Amino acid sequence: MISREQLIERVRNTSSIPAASAQALKLLNDPDAEVGQVTKCFQYDPGMTANIIKLANSSLFPSVVMVKSLPEAIIRIGFRKSLQLLIGMSFSRELGKPVSGYDLDAGRLLESAVSGAVFAEVIARNLGIGQTELLFTSCMLRDVGKMVLGSMVEVDVDKILAEVRERGVAFEEAERDILGIDHSEAGALLMESWNMPEEFIATVKYHHHPTEYQGSEAVARMIKIVHIADILSVISGDNYGVDGLDYRLDNSVAEELGINCELSDKIIYEQKIKFDELKKSGII
Ligand SMILES: [Fe+2]
Repeated sequence: MISREQLIERVRNTSSIPAASAQALKLLNDPDAEVGQVTKCFQYDPGMTANIIKLANSSLFPSVVMVKSLPEAIIRIGFRKSLQLLIGMSFSRELGKPVSGYDLDAGRLLESAVSGAVFAEVIARNLGIGQTELLFTSCMLRDVGKMVLGSMVEVDVDKILAEVRERGVAFEEAERDILGIDHSEAGALLMESWNMPEEFIATVKYHHHPTEYQGSEAVARMIKIVHIADILSVISGDNYGVDGLDYRLDNSVAEELGINCELSDKIIYEQKIKFDELKKSGII
């Protein structure tokens, strides 16, 4: 069987970062970036232009005025948020491919990614937290490791599932036992090799075990919200792979954030409205 070291090597040598993301990352770190540069950035991914305009006109950015051009859409959504969405959504082609190891049909990983991201945004709003763009994108990327491990997991998926059933452990723990690496670590390694921002790497790495993260308070809170968003997405039936419901909620995190049954029902309701709208508008 392939060793942990070989798997890590394979993850690091996986496909290169999408061109649109590379360009967006440069601009994200440039405080003097202008709308023209941001607009130009989208030329690397023409399909994104339509998606960003659709998004600007969706209920996520309520307005009575219809946006008709890319610069207008970028101004409504905001420079940073547009760039972060571009990064997240330019992965969508990859996330939209079937992931055989997890038994995910084409589009299902993307759907699950966006479902969680909308949950993260709704949670943040309910907790009175602003500036959610980083949260949305990092939540969207949380399972990027499944994309990489997908082909490798296929070989051992029955063993992983047997481990889940026999030992009653969470799916990512069984992944570690059988493969020597789980999708969180694989995703974080991929993000590192692409020089993605630290916040994205940390969220991908710790989204199933948020209290293990040792770092800034702001990032720790973001990871905790992503953890809850991920679980709510699973509960809502938006995780379609073989791993299905095999994930565990860290109750201490829900308690710390003040997310009780009543609030989670409200969050699930609000997410469903937004998520259905995104699906109807054809963004996902
Ligand atoms: Fe995950």
